[in-house]
Amino acid sequence: MHAQLAIIGAGNLGQALAKGAIEKCGISPADVVLARRNLSKIEHWRHTGVTITQNNRQAAAAANMVILCVQPKQIATVLGEINEVLTESRHILISVATGVTTGEIAACLGGKPVPVVRAMPNTAVAIGQSMTCLCASQGHEHALLPAKQLFDALGQTLIIEERLMKAATVLAASGVAFFMRYIRAATQGGIQLGFDADDAQAIAIQTAKGAATLLQTNKSHPELEIDRVTTPEGCTIAGLNEMEHQGLSPALIKGIITSYEKINNIRQ
Ligand SMILES: NC(=O)c1ccc[n+]([C@@H]2O[C@H](COP(=O)([O-])OP(=O)(O)OC[C@H]3O[C@@H](n4cnc5c(N)ncnc54)[C@H](OP(=O)(O)O)[C@@H]3O)[C@@H](O)[C@H]2O)c1
Repeated sequence: MHAQLAIIGAGNLGQALAKGAIEKCGISPADVVLARRNLSKIEHWRHTGVTITQNNRQAAAAANMVILCVQPKQIATVLGEINEVLTESRHILISVATGVTTGEIAACLGGKPVPVVRAMPNTAVAIGQSMTCLCASQGHEHALLPAKQLFDALGQTLIIEERLMKAATVLAASGVAFFMRYIRAATQGGIQLGFDADDAQAIAIQTAKGAATLLQTNKSHPELEIDRVTTPEGCTIAGLNEMEHQGLSPALIKGIITSYEKINNIRQ
């Protein structure tokens, strides 16, 4: 992949993206600029050949792909700084800021028609296992291809309509926390049955990973894989039915909907 990349807001996600772009997409470190205000936090990038700067405008001017990795409340300020050097023909803007719409970004650019892509990755981006949902501003769908190439190197991607971006935030980004809680609960169950905490957690983690990989590999439905483990009158179906009597599936679905309602109230 050939791109000159400016990552504005080189924090957790920004640095994970830089690592993926260089190691997995073959982007030369010489073509990457990392920008943030506190440079001491990214000094260690210098020896890799990456440019580091506090100057967002210079970073954007040197790039054709500008990734905005700042917190949502910083987006307007950063766009105000770089707008002057952005051109419709050269630049693609990719924003990972939660809840900031392509329309809001376009408004910050004073309507300048620079292609904007929104990306919603999750924390597994740091280990190249993110689920990243992508959408583009209207009429700029061509910009999705280079953005997809970048995030494909950091896990899996799905192109979605922008109206589903909040739902993607709940399912994929908050979703990490939901699955963590299941793994924690399974670990606690294992401890009660006699395992020490480390062994119980190791079993829970690998079992969760195996279950997810079965679905991915077999392209099967969860119920089919459940049928394969549940012997009639056996212990698995007894446990599973008890979990459902206690409200497992409704609790998960209600939790997902509650997160979604909350996200709708945070940013309209
Ligand atoms: N982490 C995730 O997995 C994840 C998932 C989905 C979406 N997101 C979104 O991704 C964005 C970044 O998340 P993060 O976890 O990487 O946050 P983070 O670690 O706080 O990174 C944000 C970075 O932006 C820099 N920054 C702030 N103001 C700036 C400015 N005016 N110019 C240049 N740099 C500036 C900060 O460094 P200085 O203070 O040194 O400038 C900081 O390092 C957020 O909008 C978040 O909603 C994150």
